[in-house]
Parts: sequence; C-alpha cells; structure tokens
Amino acid sequence: MRQNRTHNHSEKDMSTIYIASDHGGFNLKTFLVQHLKSKGHDVHDLGPADPASCDYPLKARDVTDALLKNEEALGILVCGTGIGMSMAANRVPGIRAAVCTNEFHASYARAHNNANIICLGERVTGQGIAADMVDIFLSTPFEGGRHLRRINLFDK
Ligand code: RB5
Repeated sequence: MRQNRTHNHSEKDMSTIYIASDHGGFNLKTFLVQHLKSKGHDVHDLGPADPASCDYPLKARDVTDALLKNEEALGILVCGTGIGMSMAANRVPGIRAAVCTNEFHASYARAHNNANIICLGERVTGQGIAADMVDIFLSTPFEGGRHLRRINLFDK
C-alpha cells in the first residue's frame, strides 16, 4: 500500500485516481473528473454515468476493488455527505478512507493517516474547496514513522 511519496505540492508528477459517486455526489464527481483530467492525472471514472439513484456501498466497492489491485493509486468517493461512502469503504481491509471537509483534513489524512481514499460530500462542500482538497490530498506524502506504527494497529 502506498506509504510515501517524494514530492510536495509544487511538483508536477501525476497520480492514478479511481473515482466514483452515487446520485448525491454525481455533480461534484463530474466536476472533479474534469478538474483532475485538466491537470493531466490518470483518472478512471467508475461511474455512475448519469445521476439516477444508485446505492453508494456498491460504488464504494468499485473503487476499493480497484485500489486493492493498484496500491499506488488513490481513490475519491463522493456522496451527499461523504459519510456513507467512508463507512462502506472502511469495511475493506487495507482501505483507509477519510471524510474531509477542509484543506487541513485533506492534508493530514495523507500525512498522518496515509488515507488512500478521500470522501467528499456534494451537499456539504463547494466545488472550489473540493478541488483544492483533492489537489492537496494527491500531493501530500505520508510521513511514516510513528504514524506508520499507528495505522498498522488498525489491522491488529
Ligand atoms: C443519498 O440520498 C445520500 O444518503 C447519500 O448520498 C450519502 O449522503 C450517504 O451517506
């Protein structure tokens, strides 16, 4: 599982990203896909393709399955609040999904918790803040050390 990256916010290397939503997060997902593609990231939109009602645990599982096959990738899950997606994703061993509502959350979710999925709420967070949070999440390295010891205790 991804533990560290050697770059900081100003560097230009690109991430592989798996992103999905339910109907409650569809518009923010659509916006973020365009935002991330415009920055050159390798974005895999796992749906849905339209805003029809769907069940967020199934969309969370699509992203967690993809991350378990590609441990260098990161995930983004969007629902109305971010909460249901995080609950569903965190059932999967090896997944550390963080609900984030501000840039400090996004930074520390990576630096201290080595989160591999950021969960966002379309009904909570505006598009501009969400884009900034995702940019920070993708570019912040895990600090390791005592934080690695602590996250390893999740599965003990
Ligand atoms: C759907 O109405 C809503 O419950 C869902 O998007 C999410 O917020 C659940 O946590």
